[in-house]
Amino acid sequence: MRSVVIGASGQVGTAVAAVAAERGEVRGTAFRHPAPGLTPLDMTDGEAVARFLDEAEPDVVWIPAAATDVDRCERDPEWGYTVNVLGPRRVAEAAELRGLKVVFFSTDYVFDGRHGPYSEDDPPRPLMAYGRQKLDAERWLLDHCTRLLIVRTAWIYSEEARPRNFVYRVLEQLASGQPVPAAIDQLNTPTYASDLVRRALDLLERGTQGVVHLAGRDRMSRYALTRTIAGLAGYDPGPVRPVRLAALQLPAPRPLDGGLVSVRAEPSPHTAQQDLATAVGRLLRRPEAGA
Ligand SMILES: NC(=O)c1ccc[n+]([C@@H]2O[C@H](COP(=O)([O-])OP(=O)(O)OC[C@H]3O[C@@H](n4cnc5c(N)ncnc54)[C@H](OP(=O)(O)O)[C@@H]3O)[C@@H](O)[C@H]2O)c1
Repeated sequence: MRSVVIGASGQVGTAVAAVAAERGEVRGTAFRHPAPGLTPLDMTDGEAVARFLDEAEPDVVWIPAAATDVDRCERDPEWGYTVNVLGPRRVAEAAELRGLKVVFFSTDYVFDGRHGPYSEDDPPRPLMAYGRQKLDAERWLLDHCTRLLIVRTAWIYSEEARPRNFVYRVLEQLASGQPVPAAIDQLNTPTYASDLVRRALDLLERGTQGVVHLAGRDRMSRYALTRTIAGLAGYDPGPVRPVRLAALQLPAPRPLDGGLVSVRAEPSPHTAQQDLATAVGRLLRRPEAGA
């Protein structure tokens, strides 16, 4: 299978490119963070997308690319709409014209967080601009794509030594000796990027279509997650301080009682503790991690 990854420079896109490369040829794109081997591409430019697909000749187009800065999407919804709605539309239009399969990543932030965890059967009701944009994109793709898999996921972490990785951010904060405030009233299902991608690829190979939830098996608060990471890395979890999400005064509201379960896919074969131990272990073995 030949794969194209739009947004292979992102946290999930990096994992998609790595896992898909084990099973076939892969071409990936980057936007603001160029990297060796990745083709520069703005997915909102339909002609550039079409040229890239004609050159790469894939069977499947993965779209992890998105504007994932939830607070910036709230402050500048036009920017968020352009990237999160028009971007995937341009890619899907070009893919559909060429008869290609599409895998689009979406989010648990399409739900309101009153009664989580949410399954594919629950009605979405986003609280913030980012969630509304991702839901708009989902609906447009469902109306226009013949071969489409939409993977909703939640609270991604990985072994990357980069601030966009939650595990890395926590270890950096602990290493600096500062207190680490973490919301005790925000519940979700943390998801290991490489586990997510392996399960998504299995679904794709089985021909699954439509919306599927793929997230970690265990639900926990941001506070419990942060303490677990601290413990696995050998830190005293004392500096991890429980706070209410409201006290963090973030511009975009987040779901509180959130997270995902699936009525369509098997749960992850690993516990959160197992996946977090793998991610923390790999991160600590990297010299550039600084933790
Ligand atoms: N992270 C989470 O906790 C989480 C939770 C639930 C769902 N999701 C979903 O999972 C997907 C992947 O998230 P992520 O955390 O991997 O995001 P990420 O690390 O922020 O990566 C976003 C990717 O999108 C690319 N991109 C941004 N604007 C673009 C444009 N105009 N044209 C082409 N590419 C563009 C970025 O390229 P450059 O970096 O090169 O600019 C980057 O490769 C998203 O759809 C997100 O909604 C994520």
